[in-house]
Amino acid sequence: MPINIGILGLGTVGSGVVSILQQNAEDIQTRTQSEIQIKKILVRNPELPRNIQGKFQLTDQANDILQDPEVDIIVEVIGGIEPARSYILEALRQGKHVVTANKDLLALHGQELLDAANTAGKDLYFEASVAGGIPIIAALKHALAANRISALIGIINGTTNYILSAMAEQGRDYFEVLAEAQSLGYAEADPSADVDGLDAARKLSILASIAFNSRVTLKDVFVEGISKITRQDLAYAAELGCTIKLLAIAKHHEESIEVRVHPAILPMNHPLAAVNGVYNAIYVVGDAVGETMFYGRGAGSLPTGSAVVSDIIRVIRNIQANSTSMINCTCYRDLGIKASSE
Ligand code: HSE
Repeated sequence: MPINIGILGLGTVGSGVVSILQQNAEDIQTRTQSEIQIKKILVRNPELPRNIQGKFQLTDQANDILQDPEVDIIVEVIGGIEPARSYILEALRQGKHVVTANKDLLALHGQELLDAANTAGKDLYFEASVAGGIPIIAALKHALAANRISALIGIINGTTNYILSAMAEQGRDYFEVLAEAQSLGYAEADPSADVDGLDAARKLSILASIAFNSRVTLKDVFVEGISKITRQDLAYAAELGCTIKLLAIAKHHEESIEVRVHPAILPMNHPLAAVNGVYNAIYVVGDAVGETMFYGRGAGSLPTGSAVVSDIIRVIRNIQANSTSMINCTCYRDLGIKASSE
């Protein structure tokens, strides 16, 4: 039986998801032992000519997808709060698993959505919501789960890092580089979320919540963006052997959590100073593992699509694990053998 996907949105991330599912279909099928079919995609105007083609149906009616009994997984990549929140809640009510890249929504309504997924007994995965292609959420939730995390310091906004890097390395103009970041699909629809530090603050609240098993919301985060940083500031920093980066910092103290996003002067020999362009990096300190560093592209169609498709694959593996355990139980019963190990 193929797994049917419904995708809400065909912008930068949505088109990355479609092209990865199409280009790597054979490998993904081998890895999941399932055929994945994109059944329907929600777009504003289904009649518009597009570069992307496939067997899927384009629709401007969300309920066509959310209430289609054949759709197993909903991928939400429209972004923003509404209607994305209502669509995800409806998808879960309809018994569908959900994969989303929506950091704005998770930073504001993450708990509500996770509760709804728990109630529905369905998966809700959101690796793509932070740091594009870097698997930082999986790392914090799984690979580093043995640790008490004490600090997390990162460059987690690709647009601002792209701007600061181009201003520092090439002496380019702020607005010119911002326009370039927009045309490359790095910036948010409203780029003030990037340059004012809000996008990084949303991502930091998601990471800090997971790292510290806590509920850190956007309003807990001190935020200052990069709009006041000038070429002169970067030139002065360079004279001192330093550069300026927009850092997202979360620290776990004895009795409190510190969360802040702001520009910081870093010596050039600091590992985060070498992170340039659209790249992101997150330095994480755990009591058992010590210092770790995660690095990769933090924005863009394919890196973010990579995280979405990985989540789709995880959901498929969960679906298969559940149906396998049911098959096993049936076999045990048929054979008159107890399902519990003795
Ligand atoms: N605008 C975001 C960034 C996109 O530049 O990092 C990826 O979340």
